Amino acid sequence: MAARAAANPRASFVAIERRKKWGDDLQQKLARTGATNVDILMGDANELIRTFDEATFDAVHIHFPDPWWKRRHLRRRLLDRHFVTEVARVLKPGCAAYVQTDVLDYAKVVLFRFEGSGWFENVAGPLEYTNWREEIPEKSLREMRCERDGTPFVQMKFVRRETGIDAGKLERTTG
Ligand SMILES: C[S@@+](CC[C@H](N)C(=O)[O-])C[C@H]1O[C@@H](n2cnc3c(N)ncnc32)[C@H](O)[C@@H]1O
Repeated sequence: MAARAAANPRASFVAIERRKKWGDDLQQKLARTGATNVDILMGDANELIRTFDEATFDAVHIHFPDPWWKRRHLRRRLLDRHFVTEVARVLKPGCAAYVQTDVLDYAKVVLFRFEGSGWFENVAGPLEYTNWREEIPEKSLREMRCERDGTPFVQMKFVRRETGIDAGKLERTTG
């Protein structure tokens, strides 16, 4: 995030993190690079995304969302149907959501969620992964760790359609 903000000084970023340690960590990195173009919001992304107006963002990035492995915790996964609809609501039409994960089962769910929502087109084709390295050269911490350790991970890019296909209305959800 800090590297991306520094590389794109004319863009404005919003970073959402719920753990204070990581929020402070980002704050320190930004201070070191001198970047002033990031608002850090502390809290649950699922709730905070609902506070933004429709078509606010030119891109949404979700890097290595927590997998919540245990069956009884699966419902805590960030990328459920409601969250994907919120991503569609806050993204400008024609703009993209970028997701990467090293949990391949979760990746398949992400493909189904975005494509099945009717609001997004997978740029790589149905149920395919992509590679956005050339488009986004800055790597997240986890991404660097995966590369260092040889852990496979996948990247996905979904473009927000002008109108949803067989999709419900994009209304701000609550709760
Ligand atoms: C596996 S780490 C990945 C961190 C970073 N995105 C990267 O790629 O290096 C997942 C991060 O997402 C944060 N997180 C998970 N669920 C969240 C939620 N619902 N709202 C805000 N932050 C969340 C966790 O606190 C953690 O810092």
